[in-house]
Amino acid sequence: MINVIGLGYIGLPTALMFAANGIKTVGTDYNYGLVNTLQKKQLPFEEDGLNIIFSDALSQNNITFSTEYAIEDIYIVAVPTPYDKKTKKVDAKYIINAVRTILKVCPQNAIIVIESTVSPGTIDQHVRPLIHNANKDNIHLVHAPERIIPGNMLAELQNNPRTIGADDPVIGERIKTLYTSFCKGKITVTDIRTAEMSKVVENSFRDINIAFANELAKICHESGLDVYEIIKIANMHPRVNILSPGPGVGGHCISVDPWFLVGDYPGLANIILAARKINDSMPEYVLERISEIMKKHNISTVEKIGLYGLTYKENVNDTRESPTLQLLEKMKKHLAFGIKVYDPYIKDSIVENQYLDLDNFLNDIDLVVIMTAHDELKNNLNKFKNKIILDTRNCCCLKNTYKL
Ligand SMILES: NC(=O)c1ccc[n+]([C@@H]2O[C@H](COP(=O)([O-])OP(=O)(O)OC[C@H]3O[C@@H](n4cnc5c(N)ncnc54)[C@H](O)[C@@H]3O)[C@@H](O)[C@H]2O)c1
Repeated sequence: MINVIGLGYIGLPTALMFAANGIKTVGTDYNYGLVNTLQKKQLPFEEDGLNIIFSDALSQNNITFSTEYAIEDIYIVAVPTPYDKKTKKVDAKYIINAVRTILKVCPQNAIIVIESTVSPGTIDQHVRPLIHNANKDNIHLVHAPERIIPGNMLAELQNNPRTIGADDPVIGERIKTLYTSFCKGKITVTDIRTAEMSKVVENSFRDINIAFANELAKICHESGLDVYEIIKIANMHPRVNILSPGPGVGGHCISVDPWFLVGDYPGLANIILAARKINDSMPEYVLERISEIMKKHNISTVEKIGLYGLTYKENVNDTRESPTLQLLEKMKKHLAFGIKVYDPYIKDSIVENQYLDLDNFLNDIDLVVIMTAHDELKNNLNKFKNKIILDTRNCCCLKNTYKL
């Protein structure tokens, strides 16, 4: 039996995956509303195939949900790990709280698996002392960072290779066997610090590569060149693989984890810092492109402009750190109010001037800025054909379309 702590975007699919594959699982979250929803057999967010493993887990009687921590041999912790905006270091308070509570209930020799992403050394610095101070030195620690991407979570849970960092290789192998219940990818067992570092390195690599594409977009625009054509040609080189530029980097991973290295290794993490700055500058750059286009088309008020997409990536409902939210924040700083916003995945009003209906949104604007390339947009391009478009995702081929 296992207890998964934290039932968000990572913890819930993980708990359901274990349960659907024969492992008795208790899912714990301190959010009463969320636990209540799950107990009513409803899912709190959409994800391809999640409903299927939810039914599988329920029909096998392998999953229960609670706000209480259970007495189990294995705990899997998937709580948030934001970064401190001032120091740029990982904010470990959620992990510390979760581990403290586990230590109050767990039996001797229990295993605590931290799935949350942490900066290298976090477990030694913040988690190990909790165990020592609780006089529970027989508790085993493991770090099993998660790599899945929203929108393709279940396929990635099953197929991605995993890393398991453990103090004791025998415990590492035991946890590897547990994950093998659903994971067909290669599982590497290593030590905890290596697992911590490799996860943060992976996301920093992604961030740097996105920043390169974003920098090229600015350079090409300045030179009157088509960045997408340049990237297409450059990528024909057998050892070049440039990513696509975009309006910025959002989500809970790529826009956060590289900061851990910047915070812990100031002066050494130079490319990582530069990449973060470039990617964080993109919403401001989109604003500059909007004003250029407004001037060209004699649009005098931002009220005739609409941002399509609030989520940080296509076909998900996750708005955390999204470029659109970053852009709206910047507009407030410029005292520019009244821009319209729409996203088919966001059914509640979370920002000002948000529309819940595509047709009403389009009726009220002249210039639409594509911030997220949801399938809804691609399937309804004809509705956009009389608009001026700024396409930050290179997903639209209509006339009157400007690119980054
Ligand atoms: N979201 C992703 O795409 C993704 C991908 C890979 C790794 N990660 C990492 O996984 C971790 C979790 O991220 P997430 O996106 O699932 O976060 P989330 O905010 O969606 O979910 C976290 C959940 O933990 C609960 N929680 C917090 N403290 C708790 C406590 N002490 N006891 C019980 N419940 C508690 C919250 O109520 C929330 O429901 C983070 O470290 C993140 O960096 C996320």
